Amino acid sequence: MSGKMQIKLKVNGEDHEFSAEPRELLVHALRERLNLTGSHVGCETGHCGVCTVTLNGKSIKSCTMFVAQADGAELTTVEGMGSPDNLHVLQEAFREHHGLQCGYCTPGMIMRAAKLLEEIPNPTEEQVRFGMAGNLCRCTGYQNIVKSIMAAASEMNSAKEAAQ
Ligand code: FES
Ligand code: FES
Repeated sequence: MSGKMQIKLKVNGEDHEFSAEPRELLVHALRERLNLTGSHVGCETGHCGVCTVTLNGKSIKSCTMFVAQADGAELTTVEGMGSPDNLHVLQEAFREHHGLQCGYCTPGMIMRAAKLLEEIPNPTEEQVRFGMAGNLCRCTGYQNIVKSIMAAASEMNSAKEAAQ
């Protein structure tokens, strides 16, 4: 008997419907079924954060959820943040402040940082370090990652002030 089920997801504003094994991990469905390969696979045990996406408004690690549990959800992945010609403020800040080296952790960092800045728009460095504690980087070191996020926060706040 086939145990596949029909799954509906709205990802980056687009509706998708596909059939999958209920036990398939959400990160694998995003990458292999929807071809959204920005969400990476690292530890697959919820420790490294390279698979971080936003699901129904919350940061989640997409390796910790079965696709069946996400049925009907709205997601944002790094592909929904910016494009090479039109980078998101955070992506631009990571580029400018050398917040990456190999880039493997970066999509997860960007997704987590975006949510963090939504929750705390004007964070202290300590709040950034605490808020990003579930995202690991094996190469850059955290100094420039924190610097990038602080720079993006300040950029976003100035843009908000200018718009008022
Ligand atoms: S791959 Fe998901 S937390 Fe490491
Ligand atoms: S930039 Fe290489 S793992 Fe973070």
